[in-house]
Amino acid sequence: GVNELRRVTMDEVALHNKRNDCWMVISGNVYNVTHYLDYHPGGKGELMRAAGKDGTDLFNDTHPWVNAEGVLRECMIGFCTGPGALQA
Ligand code: HEM
Repeated sequence: GVNELRRVTMDEVALHNKRNDCWMVISGNVYNVTHYLDYHPGGKGELMRAAGKDGTDLFNDTHPWVNAEGVLRECMIGFCTGPGALQA
């Protein structure tokens, strides 16, 4: 597709922690969830708890049955690497 997936560090993810510029790591994948915020069934506030962070644990604690990879396919930026990355 049009998506050029790339490697992203946690440091870069951390820069995007605002409601109008919000990235998040879920299971090693980096997503730009800025536009998803308005559609999150659990509300913006809940989703913002993981803004600029690795939200995998919060995600799995809340709704492990949700297919994040499917829901956020068009929002994917790449894969998290470096400090904080899930993959070895
Ligand atoms: C609910 C998607 C991240 C907190 C939901 C639901 C979906 C969803 C589909 C409805 C679940 C259902 O009814 O079975 C996502 C996606 C995420 C994400 C795609 C990835 C970015 C998070 C994070 C939190 C969170 C990081 C942090 C705490 C919640 C809560 C609800 C919820 C509390 C329940 C709302 C309720 O039952 O009233 N989310 N979520 N979600 N989400 Fe998320």
